[in-house]
Amino acid sequence: MYYPEEVVEEVRSRNDIVDVISAYVKLQRKGSSYFGLCPFHNEKSPSFSVSPGKQMYYCFGCGAGGNVLTFIMEYENFSFPEALKFLADRAGVKLPEQEYSAEAKRQQDLRTAILEVNKMAGKFYYYQLRTEAGKQGMEYLKNRQLSEETMQRFGLGFAPKYSDSLYRYLKQKGVSDELLRQSGLMNVDEKRGMYDKFWNRVIFPIMDVNNRVIGFGGRVMGDGKPKYLNSPETPVFDKSRNLYGLNVARVSRKKYIIVCEGYMDVISMHQAGFTNAVASLGTALTSQHASLLKRYTDEVILSYDSDEAGVKAALRAIPLMKEAGVRTRVLKMAPYKDPDEFIKALGTEAFQERIDQAQNSFLFEVSVLEGQFDMSDPESKTSFFQEVSKKIAGFEMEVERENYIEAIASRYHTSFEGLRNMVLRYLMQGEVPFRPEVLRSRKSPGRDDGIKKSQRMLLTWLTEYPGFYQTVKTYIRPEDFTTDFYREVAQLLFAQLEQEKLEPAQIIDHFMDPEEQRQAAELFHTRVPVESENELKKAMKETVKKVMTAGLEQKNASLDTTNMNALQQMLEARRRLQSLDKMVIKL
Ligand code: CTP
Ligand code: MN
Repeated sequence: MYYPEEVVEEVRSRNDIVDVISAYVKLQRKGSSYFGLCPFHNEKSPSFSVSPGKQMYYCFGCGAGGNVLTFIMEYENFSFPEALKFLADRAGVKLPEQEYSAEAKRQQDLRTAILEVNKMAGKFYYYQLRTEAGKQGMEYLKNRQLSEETMQRFGLGFAPKYSDSLYRYLKQKGVSDELLRQSGLMNVDEKRGMYDKFWNRVIFPIMDVNNRVIGFGGRVMGDGKPKYLNSPETPVFDKSRNLYGLNVARVSRKKYIIVCEGYMDVISMHQAGFTNAVASLGTALTSQHASLLKRYTDEVILSYDSDEAGVKAALRAIPLMKEAGVRTRVLKMAPYKDPDEFIKALGTEAFQERIDQAQNSFLFEVSVLEGQFDMSDPESKTSFFQEVSKKIAGFEMEVERENYIEAIASRYHTSFEGLRNMVLRYLMQGEVPFRPEVLRSRKSPGRDDGIKKSQRMLLTWLTEYPGFYQTVKTYIRPEDFTTDFYREVAQLLFAQLEQEKLEPAQIIDHFMDPEEQRQAAELFHTRVPVESENELKKAMKETVKKVMTAGLEQKNASLDTTNMNALQQMLEARRRLQSLDKMVIKL
């Protein structure tokens, strides 16, 4: 951090979060919090909450959250120092001179300027599509059965036939050559100088989750090559961290997100009502994409093309999703090539049916595997079962293994017992298949989420009923929390409560990355529907027990049995757990 903690803390505490956010969002008081329409996603009923007590905001709809500094960073698209400066000025706090490095400032200014240029370019293309110069593009899109409304919703545009029309437009708007070069909108070569990258193409503006235009894709008219041209990576455009359509899909309120291959797939799906469809941008899915998706959903339906490339892409995506904790199912597109074709041929309902029938990712992997073996040859068939058994042995939970053994045995008409023995053999050999680190680190996702939720609930309550801490501290230590991140937050919070200086918003500033700040805010905003004080106390008791038990289990797993001290501590913790029934909660 560039500024000393005290400075940050002073700026933060002199800017009341309700005052600041009220300038942007209409807030209404409800109980101890204020609510309004979330400025970070589209919604009709307010799920955006601002808590004067915690000095934090959190959106129960999209998960955006943080303290007053986070809010200004996210809303104004400011860097941390910029947000700090903004709020310091607002409250009349004088910042020490040093400030942030010139380089950091230059980078941020550049990003802001590129976004501005992109916005202008997007408007230009949009306008062109609706003029004489864009006639061909308009015909093309209509031919592909896109409605005017759809074109508008995706901001589709057209880059005219002349290779300098955007260049001239932006020059006339006073944009410098240097900025144009960095924007990725131009080609530069020695002979021709600078000229438009996109011409005679329909244009798909690419937006990030905050609806800012970060780049463009352009499709050729007819059969020219390359079919699609995309903006290069720029300071605002990172292909491995953005998904086309996610700005809409994230607020679609569906249980799952559909991932497909291309722009046109996303658009025709949205037009057909599947507004939860996204696509990666001319690249394979990355682990960053997977974590991005995890922010918004627990389940993904892969709807890739039905060709060999599509199958390969699905096989690559599945382990990445698993690693991020996202369940995956794979949709069968055949006999059609892609979602766009499918929907045109069979319509919406048929597509929904395919979604409902989409195959669980493991069974999909198994069917692909099946294709590699000659199932009419006994030896080859045995090898197939061996491969499958190896995969099944990789599942951590016994129930899960048993379920798959059953599914495979019945699907391939083989004996359950025989298959189970084979799996057991691989289990005993400890031969774990692909990505052992993933399988080992992830226990049952359901249970794990439950434990984490209890931990979040506990942290939330501690900020809402600081008196509860006196009870909690006799049972739970920050070390009992099960991830590094939760532990760190718990440590900071416990320290504040110990000194009777509860200031949750300050904890947010210990984290530099806005995503971490958001997660920290999430820890303090877990809602539990309880009606009465009695119910609340009962829930609290159960939660303390869950968190304590999870902490104990974790200790147990890594217990060094030769360490007397550790053993003692363990026994002592068990005793405390047993005495829990007598616990009295004072709020
Ligand atoms: N793509 C790309 N460059 C290419 C071809 C494809 O970046 N030369 C990317 C684009 O993002 C495209 C996606 O890969 O949307 C899927 O390619 P493809 O299946 O060929 O595109 P479709 O969406 O089927 O194209 P269309 O329907 O417009 O023919
Ligand atoms: Mn396609």
